[in-house]
Amino acid sequence: MTLTLDQNRIPKRTLASGEQIPCVGIGTFGSDKYNAQEISNAVYGAIRYGYRLVDCAAVYQNEAQIGEVLSRVQEEGIVSRSELFITSKVWNDKHGEGEVIASCKKSLEDLKLDYLDLYFVHWPFPNYHAPGCSGDSRNPDSRPFSVEEFMTAWRQCEALVDMGLVRYIGMSNMTIPKLEAVLPLCRIKPAALEMELHPSFQQPELFDYAVAHEILPIGYCPIGSPSRPERDRTAEDVADTELLAVAEAAKAHGVHPAIICLKWAVQRGQVPIPFSVKEAQYMSNLSCATEDPLTDEEMDAIAKEDRNCRLIKGQVFLWEGAKGWEDLWDLDGTITK
Ligand SMILES: NC(=O)c1ccc[n+]([C@@H]2O[C@H](COP(=O)([O-])OP(=O)(O)OC[C@H]3O[C@@H](n4cnc5c(N)ncnc54)[C@H](OP(=O)(O)O)[C@@H]3O)[C@@H](O)[C@H]2O)c1
Repeated sequence: MTLTLDQNRIPKRTLASGEQIPCVGIGTFGSDKYNAQEISNAVYGAIRYGYRLVDCAAVYQNEAQIGEVLSRVQEEGIVSRSELFITSKVWNDKHGEGEVIASCKKSLEDLKLDYLDLYFVHWPFPNYHAPGCSGDSRNPDSRPFSVEEFMTAWRQCEALVDMGLVRYIGMSNMTIPKLEAVLPLCRIKPAALEMELHPSFQQPELFDYAVAHEILPIGYCPIGSPSRPERDRTAEDVADTELLAVAEAAKAHGVHPAIICLKWAVQRGQVPIPFSVKEAQYMSNLSCATEDPLTDEEMDAIAKEDRNCRLIKGQVFLWEGAKGWEDLWDLDGTITK
């Protein structure tokens, strides 16, 4: 017998359009550790259990397998297309004129869909690195952020909405200075901002900025990405599941600390997109949003655990002459050139 979570029990988040989406989604990046078949199997089980939001991307190299599953769940009558909320993202090597549209069409073909619910510009640079490359590899063609280049990609996202191929468009890995530069130029505003968010990296200014601009924050690495690739690890990184306030709440609620990270994310108001191929994990990652909430005191204690600990530093996207990964994130409040 398949256990299924009652959809009415899953809290919703509201987009600027008024449409409601689930408060938790499932991630699909296998961190070079899980293959496309394992991930698509998990997406099948997750949808059957009650997930409706699936966070995909061309660069995760598994959209064709996930597409099989999206067809299957509809054929089996588990969900209709309109009940699903499927996202994808254009990769950094496809920002040029015409390339965003072609890339979106390829994702649609792979995912076997007529439209995407939300399409992201994955990173605000056309800087490319080969999948699985090492952390210190640099592409000589990499360049700093350019408003003009970004808008070439964004205009195509807007055209995808006009063409009916995409319902909403979003940005990912942005900073406030970059948003300040591009938002006034957008004909269609981003519905969501996908950003790294977990207890040790709460990005309060960017989170508040997004909310104030009616842009829904979607939080990636919500558990602190314990299985992330070697290239995304440094000695200074903090493990979210070991933070005192997280560990204490886990003990009090009798759950794994990962579940506390997710409860905190949901109650704060972002949409976490935890990844797991393990049935017990992905089931509890969704059901935890429906029961036994954290107390105000626990929420406050976790808020104080912010260490400004960015895990996905993006160093493989640096350009010649950049000082370090911090240059990607405009830490002095202006766009770093
Ligand atoms: N927009 C972007 O640039 C961007 C960047 C990164 C990620 N993302 C998206 O965000 C998603 C999530 O990020 P992520 O996969 O890096 O990190 P994550 O969701 O924070 O961590 C996933 C890992 O946490 C462990 N885990 C999951 N549920 C658990 C549970 N209930 N109890 C204990 N451990 C649990 C699993 O480790 P084990 O497998 O070892 O059990 C799993 O592989 C990605 O899959 C992707 O869709 C987007």
